[in-house]
Amino acid sequence: MTRPTEGDIAKHFDDGVDCCAPRRDASKRPGFALVKLLRRQLADVGLAGRSVLELGCGRGELSLDLIHDGAASVTGIDLSPDAIEYARRTAAEDGLSERADFRAGNAATTSLPSRDVVVHHRVICCYHDVDAFLAASIGAAGSIYAFSMPRSRGIWGIGVRVALKLENLTHSIKRRGFRAFVHDERVVHSALSRAGFHLKSRSDRGGWFAAVYVS
Ligand SMILES: C[S@@+](CC[C@H](N)C(=O)[O-])C[C@H]1O[C@@H](n2cnc3c(N)ncnc32)[C@H](O)[C@@H]1O
Repeated sequence: MTRPTEGDIAKHFDDGVDCCAPRRDASKRPGFALVKLLRRQLADVGLAGRSVLELGCGRGELSLDLIHDGAASVTGIDLSPDAIEYARRTAAEDGLSERADFRAGNAATTSLPSRDVVVHHRVICCYHDVDAFLAASIGAAGSIYAFSMPRSRGIWGIGVRVALKLENLTHSIKRRGFRAFVHDERVVHSALSRAGFHLKSRSDRGGWFAAVYVS
């Protein structure tokens, strides 16, 4: 399969930065129901006073929500410079610039700052090198690692593979370099287990799941 470059991914999400959901209407955001599950699971392990690193933070909505949920500070990293610009603007509007630092970069290849909590929501499926992404992100995590990703197992896993094949066909017809990936969820579980993390909670929703691991 085509391997998207950093530029392909950045362009895809730069182009879509204004596409969906006015930021104040959270319920219209893509992945809204899933992010609610992820936030609830994070609240259960406790965010108060903790530092957070959000990888693939996009426009920074979850990052800023996590500050509202009690996190002391958030660092957000994303390949899309336009999304990072949007996130910085929103943080400034909310008076949170001192607690929310947004940077453009590749989470799998740049050296990541260590934080108590690492989170990524709907990101792993947008990057081909899952091993590099996991090595870098798990290495930056203190005691909590939270994420959402497409399900890769069972009947839902089959459905997700078909859906992403169709999505990728559309990208190919439209001559976009971007591609979506269904990575094996067992690879994520094994990498976290090897690093001393264990599954604290998991919520399935349609073809996706949200999970929180703790060490
Ligand atoms: C589907 S969007 C999700 C954005 C945000 N997490 C949300 O749910 O609204 C995937 C995001 O991951 C970013 N991304 C993909 N691979 C990345 C990488 N290796 N490093 C940093 N960001 C990445 C993309 O630029 C994009 O903004």
